[in-house]
Amino acid sequence: MEHFDAFYTPPDIAEEMVSAIRRSSLACVADFAVGDGRLLRAVEARLRTKHLIGMDIDPRVICRLRSRHPTWSLAVGDFLADQTDGSISKFQPAAVVMNPPYSNRGNSVREVAYEGGSVRCSPACAFALRALEWMAPGGVAVILMPESSLYSEKDRKVRRIIERAGDLQVVTSFFRPRFEGATVRSALVRIEKRRSHVDVSIPVPGADESVDCEFDIIRGGLPVHLAKPSRAVDRVPFLHTTSLSTLGASRLLQVRPYSRGLVLGPGVLLPRVGVPRALQIRVIGRDECFQLSDCVILVRTKAIKDARLLRMKLVNQIAALQAIYNGTGARYVTVSMLREWLAARA
Ligand SMILES: C[S@@+](CC[C@H](N)C(=O)[O-])C[C@H]1O[C@@H](n2cnc3c(N)ncnc32)[C@H](O)[C@@H]1O
Repeated sequence: MEHFDAFYTPPDIAEEMVSAIRRSSLACVADFAVGDGRLLRAVEARLRTKHLIGMDIDPRVICRLRSRHPTWSLAVGDFLADQTDGSISKFQPAAVVMNPPYSNRGNSVREVAYEGGSVRCSPACAFALRALEWMAPGGVAVILMPESSLYSEKDRKVRRIIERAGDLQVVTSFFRPRFEGATVRSALVRIEKRRSHVDVSIPVPGADESVDCEFDIIRGGLPVHLAKPSRAVDRVPFLHTTSLSTLGASRLLQVRPYSRGLVLGPGVLLPRVGVPRALQIRVIGRDECFQLSDCVILVRTKAIKDARLLRMKLVNQIAALQAIYNGTGARYVTVSMLREWLAARA
């Protein structure tokens, strides 16, 4: 049903999700948005498991699954609600596989309880957070997330909580069906829950700014295919990855400003998509204005001297920087990964 976001995982992606667990035998595997059970069936076919558990908000899908898989433990319920069905809450899964809903009955934000507090985030991130809480220490969650949850402002807080509780890795990205033939870019994310307890409590407002970076990271926004020449009075130069290395030496296309990725220097530009080369890491001066393509990032600094220093640091550590660009197709970096990486080197 559309309002439950019941868009099922294509078989090849389900296979890839099972491979991303990277374990051959597991006591208990769960899918808390189980739908027609295809992810658990893919697990059952490939891995040795004792218990398979599934939950879904839609009672009809659970009814069907109960007759098809009598050995599975199945429950009807809202995984994001405070109270979950007692019949499955006794299990502590060693792995979770999920393709969670990307919206909550049309809403793009959901408040979810977590370790005595609550956090507002996208429904998919709320699923990831609850799965992490529920899983056994050392457990692995493989989740198909909207790619935007890896960099959106809305999910920044929850990302920090997730990253403190587990090791997050982007395995690959896809287009996932959404509705009426439309697709959304999704990232296959693997989160390995830490074994030792670290403080994963919800930060108080403002406390998540404590990685006191002297910079802002701004992701570009204009897709190349939408970049059209413009003579409008408010036109600005359009900057895509291909122009980074020749910046200043070639004329740039002039475009209308887009809703996202209109930036002002000073700062350092670098590719978001595609492994960066030293030549593509460029400083822009105070008040230099560009419309960035969705493949470029600006690390905006307070002063031009900070931008020059930062560029030097990035170029000197180019191999380490390249290593944080992930993905099996075009490799890319997320704003949060870059922020963490820069903060660790501040
Ligand atoms: C995108 S489908 C995925 C189904 C299946 N696991 C797959 O991979 O094909 C999402 C499923 O989550 C269920 N769902 C939506 N909201 C939920 C909630 N709050 N709690 C539990 N299940 C939910 C929907 O009914 C739907 O079956």
